[in-house]
Amino acid sequence: MDNISPAHEASCSTGPAESTATGHTSAELSATDLETQQFNTVCEILRRNNNDPARLIPILQQIQKEYRYLPEEVLTFIATPLRLRPAQVFGVATFYSHFALKPHGKYTIRLCDGTACHVRRSTGILNALYERLNVDEERKTTSDQLFTVETVSCLGACGLAPVMLVNEKVYGQVTPEKALEIVEEIIVKEKQA
Ligand code: FES
Repeated sequence: MDNISPAHEASCSTGPAESTATGHTSAELSATDLETQQFNTVCEILRRNNNDPARLIPILQQIQKEYRYLPEEVLTFIATPLRLRPAQVFGVATFYSHFALKPHGKYTIRLCDGTACHVRRSTGILNALYERLNVDEERKTTSDQLFTVETVSCLGACGLAPVMLVNEKVYGQVTPEKALEIVEEIIVKEKQA
């Protein structure tokens, strides 16, 4: 990778943008506290990875684990300490489908729409999830940020088609009814938590 000039280097010790530090209401201050906490976490992730640009992918994975997606401002921010151009960071973040550039729900439902699953009526499952969760192809995440529904191409388990992933858990031979059951179970579990 081509690195940017060391003159662009910034340090995590400079803290988050000063514009968030003054003249805010308490609600805004809470947001600022959160930003500070997340900023510190990003700095810690960079430190753990020795600000090594060769570790960009694990760094992005760790940041995504923290935020559940890769916020644009964080991608821009990490470019400098990693001595990369923001375009390089964005290039990697957008190349791999497992990186999300928009907020994700706590549970990401990935429904396979590869040929085997499509033939076995994955569309009916997708429509049932869209209707139950009030999301669609454009607005993939529920307003409470509990679920994100996405379609993916072949998950490599065609013998189990139609296949659905909820976070890391694989469900095979899914029907619309089974998919809704899984969603309801999660909703109940979250209410009890
Ligand atoms: S087409 Fe769905 S797992 Fe292969």
